[in-house]
Amino acid sequence: MNTKEKDLKYIMHTYGRYDVALKSGKGVYAYDEDGKRYIDVSSGIGVNSLGYCDEGWVQAVTAQANTIQHMSNYFYSSQAADLAEKLCALTGMAKVCFGNSGAEANECAIKVARKYSFDKYGDERNEIITLKNSFHGRTVTTLAATGQEVFHNYFFPFTGGFKYAEPNDLDDFKNHVDEKTCAVMLEVVQGEGGVNILDADYVKSIAKICADNDILLIIDEVQTGAGRTGKLFACQHYDIKPDLMTAAKGLGGGLPIGVCLCGDKLKDVMSPSTHGTTFGANPVVCAGANYVLDKISDEKFLEAVEEKGAYLEEKLLKLGGVKNVRRLGLMVGIEIDGDAHAIAVKCVQNGLLIITAKDLLRMLPPLTITEEELDEAVAILEKTLKENE
Ligand SMILES: Cc1ncc(COP(=O)(O)O)c(C=O)c1O
Repeated sequence: MNTKEKDLKYIMHTYGRYDVALKSGKGVYAYDEDGKRYIDVSSGIGVNSLGYCDEGWVQAVTAQANTIQHMSNYFYSSQAADLAEKLCALTGMAKVCFGNSGAEANECAIKVARKYSFDKYGDERNEIITLKNSFHGRTVTTLAATGQEVFHNYFFPFTGGFKYAEPNDLDDFKNHVDEKTCAVMLEVVQGEGGVNILDADYVKSIAKICADNDILLIIDEVQTGAGRTGKLFACQHYDIKPDLMTAAKGLGGGLPIGVCLCGDKLKDVMSPSTHGTTFGANPVVCAGANYVLDKISDEKFLEAVEEKGAYLEEKLLKLGGVKNVRRLGLMVGIEIDGDAHAIAVKCVQNGLLIITAKDLLRMLPPLTITEEELDEAVAILEKTLKENE
């Protein structure tokens, strides 16, 4: 059996895969089992922030694997402590809790928010407002938090206590706030929902309503964080300070991580046995994340992310078949004429690994991509769009 046949026989079919088995990668290029080269502007959905097999990252990870590969959370770990210190220093947050994925980080934020409200106001004040068209993960609770009906199926009963407001409609948001509201959770750029960038005034108004009413503001930075939008975290574009923030994907550079960060007000809400996970704060993962964070937190690196994003946008807008580009940094949604999924499949056949979000093509290239590499990607997209005319 080849890889595809084995996969289809033995792995639950929860993803519609492209017809490619990837074997190796270097920088922005991936290679399949037949040695065919692809330029990858998806980064494993925004994970490989420094590209494939960045030398420094590989060294950091392998050195740590050769030193101590895992310890339980009953022991102190310098890699985890260093990462936590850096994250707090860079964001002004007070403490972090480590997990293994974006959904887990969001679960943690939801738990911290509900416990804060329970400790202070009792068990009635537990509702969380999220936005329609959001995406917060695939666990039963984060699916419930996700404001899209299509995800509220099959797995009943879902966790209760979530209400969904219309994005960029402040009146609708206010109509959802009442004495039971304990938190608001949102992505400032809705990634899976189609790269929808929330209005600055709307986000700032929500932050003010939250601050005035002791409602906790949770920003889900799972996709937008770790330099993706040209700031270390996308909420920094909005000049707001959330009570809780979550990060995952690109922070690990290719190994599974999820982090929930909290501000000063919440730093003592959680106590032993209120939360935990065996693999959270794994030293190999944290060694990789420390390396990634040192690279991407550099101001010049972040400026280059925005410059490259602007360069890419200009090129894309010149292509026939491209109607519009929605973009912040290197988080890019491309509105096209035609079926985005079908075009993505053809792009892959033509050597460009690209993904979709709703009816858009989506690019989340490695943050280290060069302008020449962006040109190469755009040329393949152009050729594919022409073939589709
Ligand atoms: C904004 C956002 N939150 C949460 C998640 C879930 O992250 P994970 O797949 O790591 O659980 C995603 C994944 O795409 C996401 O984009």
